[in-house]
Amino acid sequence: MAILDKHKILETNATLLLIFSFLVVTIGGIVQITPLFYLENTIEKVEGMRPYTPLEMAGREIYIREGCYTCHSQMIRPMRDEVERYGHYSLAAESMYDHPFQWGSKRTGPDLARVGGRYSDQWQMDHLRDPQSVVPESVMPKYGFLERRKIDGRYIGDIMAANAVVGTPYTEEMLENAVADFRAQADPDSDYDGLLERYGDKVNVRNFDGQPELTEADALIAYLQMLGTLVDFSTFTPDASR
Ligand code: HEC
Repeated sequence: MAILDKHKILETNATLLLIFSFLVVTIGGIVQITPLFYLENTIEKVEGMRPYTPLEMAGREIYIREGCYTCHSQMIRPMRDEVERYGHYSLAAESMYDHPFQWGSKRTGPDLARVGGRYSDQWQMDHLRDPQSVVPESVMPKYGFLERRKIDGRYIGDIMAANAVVGTPYTEEMLENAVADFRAQADPDSDYDGLLERYGDKVNVRNFDGQPELTEADALIAYLQMLGTLVDFSTFTPDASR
């Protein structure tokens, strides 16, 4: 009881309580924050991460504009039910080029962190046009208008340059070729060697929405089909040295 009696002194004296609370929070804060200054990087490095291609970046902008994140998260939690449903839990490195990140906590629909390659482009297009046609009980709105909105990538270089300012490693060459790369990715008949040279040979090059014009649907599907496919998890082992 003696210790509780002493505690009573604190509880009945507002000024003392304030001083001691402040001390506790300060010590707790130092313990948590100081080690971060001695780590070179809080993000574990993984192979395969690259900045988004111009077309994927445009798709990401549309994803944010349309508020897809209000129903979809992009972060697989490290719990068994999540991992069994969606695949390997998300790594910090996987969203290191996301400004802002799309983790989210609202899941009216499934997590999309690894949706890339799970469905065909045709399925994605049908689903965007009319989600209920492929998943009858779906409450997802229709986004058919995206395939009627043409885009030319005029401003994509500016968006990439803004991302470069906050740390995405876009090179001068990537910025200079932004519009050309933007168009090349959606046109398999174009000369897309430069695009692959700059972003890697795993980049999907095809007509994503299946119609001749380059539309917002092309960009959005290019983005969705890339999600979660950059890191090769068959060769990934978590770094346990820290
Ligand atoms: C009102 C909430 C809502 C909004 C907004 C929404 N979705 Fe969905 N989405 C859902 C629901 C519910 C499902 C699950 C049923 C289905 O497949 O339609 C779903 C499913 C999906 C799937 C299939 C995922 C899987 O693993 O089966 C994709 C891809 C998808 N949405 C993309 C999008 C994109 C892109 C946008 C923005 C353009 C968007 N969603 C906006 C609710 C939403």
